[in-house]
Amino acid sequence: MSEYGDVGGKEKMSPKLRRFLQTLLVVILACYTTLLAYQSLSRVGTPSVRIAEDAAASEKLIKDYNSNNNNYLPLVRADDGIPRDPDFTSEIPSATATVKPPTTTLEDLFISVKTTKHYHQSRLLIILKTWFQLAKAQTWFFTDSEDPEFQKKTNGHMINTNCSSSHSRKALCCKMSVEFDTFIESNK
Ligand SMILES: *[C@@H]1O[C@H](CO)[C@@H](O)[C@H](O)[C@H]1NC(C)=O
Repeated sequence: MSEYGDVGGKEKMSPKLRRFLQTLLVVILACYTTLLAYQSLSRVGTPSVRIAEDAAASEKLIKDYNSNNNNYLPLVRADDGIPRDPDFTSEIPSATATVKPPTTTLEDLFISVKTTKHYHQSRLLIILKTWFQLAKAQTWFFTDSEDPEFQKKTNGHMINTNCSSSHSRKALCCKMSVEFDTFIESNK
């Protein structure tokens, strides 16, 4: 028999148990509400959703990014509205996937070789017989004298910088400056 006794045999639950169950219900409800609130808050806070919701801002972001980079590796707008590199993939590449080759070609390059009249025969000749053959149009030689023989061999790619033939810092900087000027004029 309970401490409080049964009233008319109808009250089967003790007040202690009842209070406990009521408290439990309140706690469960509170937890559930907190969980719901947290879920909806975290959804609003996700950047991807915010970008997708504001299509105009997303479009502007892509346009600004691409124009700032002269459309080098441009971003595109994916189906989900998130701007990203077109080559981007969230999938894990399989072992057989091949790496996409870079888009830079030989025509994009400017190859500069600094030299001096003393080394035309001993060093330039070897370059001309080997790798120069693979990039004749891209390679330029910066020297310090006129050399009709090598001018012919390089198809006019010998540039006389008129700088000193010494190996001093000043002479090397003088040649470097002609190399930079020629590079900028080449638009490579
Ligand atoms: C070097 O001097 C020659 C003759 O004065 C000139 O034609 C040529 O443009 C000069 N080279 C450079 C790189 O300034």
